[in-house]
Amino acid sequence: MGGNIRDKVKEFYGEIASKVEQNADCSCCSGSSCCAPISSTALPLYDADSIANLPHEAISASLGCANPLAIADLREGETVLDLGCGGGIDVLAASKYVGQSGKVYGLDMTDEMLELANRNRERMGATNVEFLKGYIEEIPLGDAAVDVVMSNCVINLCTDKKKVLEEAYRVLKPGGRLAIADIVSVKEVPTRIRQAARMWMSCIAGALDVGEYEQILVNAGFRDIEIQPVVYYTRQTLEQLLDSKPEHISESDLRMADGAFASAWVKAVK
Ligand SMILES: C[S@@+](CC[C@H](N)C(=O)[O-])C[C@H]1O[C@@H](n2cnc3c(N)ncnc32)[C@H](O)[C@@H]1O
Repeated sequence: MGGNIRDKVKEFYGEIASKVEQNADCSCCSGSSCCAPISSTALPLYDADSIANLPHEAISASLGCANPLAIADLREGETVLDLGCGGGIDVLAASKYVGQSGKVYGLDMTDEMLELANRNRERMGATNVEFLKGYIEEIPLGDAAVDVVMSNCVINLCTDKKKVLEEAYRVLKPGGRLAIADIVSVKEVPTRIRQAARMWMSCIAGALDVGEYEQILVNAGFRDIEIQPVVYYTRQTLEQLLDSKPEHISESDLRMADGAFASAWVKAVK
């Protein structure tokens, strides 16, 4: 995929954030315009407890692919960092578990998302939350600063996944936990699917193969690594994401891609 992917991703999610503000029901998330496999499947993955007391606008802005809190095992007093926090759903949910003695940072590169997240923080009245502007490839926190790094459907969007996971390792305290929801590929994927810009923006084409993900985590220094697929995406889901099928993507590409991607939980320890 040509061009500067990061700028395209920023523009894409900036537009989504603006739509969320204009329409609290977030119709942008119910069709094919964002990490949509998700919206139809992931919101039920948030148990009622996780999203209780969250502003409606934060819940409806969810663009994740699973619930990272389900594997984060957050405790009172912990410091947490959410990579690519978007409208803040996971940050605000985490703030309830770490309590007043804890702190949750949300990091995102997109101004419109950060504005939305800050408005959601105000709506909830959360005082143990801070949203930071920056790239997850260059986390603006010191070494060993947090107990937990979580992320929801973001790392697949980055071209330098190795750098992101090395940075996650750097900012974690020794014994700190990685709790990620992400999209992975579980079998061979046609190159033409990997090259479709639309598929990249929708969190699909940049998905790492499970084995590659594991190797990057090992190389970064992580131990106790577990990668567990949660929901497999069908050909129909991929077709919805493409809006209209680009000519260069063939029938056989789509057949091969059926079930090749899944949302997954990724756990590891520093
Ligand atoms: C699919 S959305 C997920 C948002 C949120 N985690 C959720 O579950 O609703 C991806 C988010 O990651 C942000 N993002 C993507 N690449 C990034 C990067 N390299 N650095 C910082 N933020 C990034 C985008 O701005 C967007 O808000």
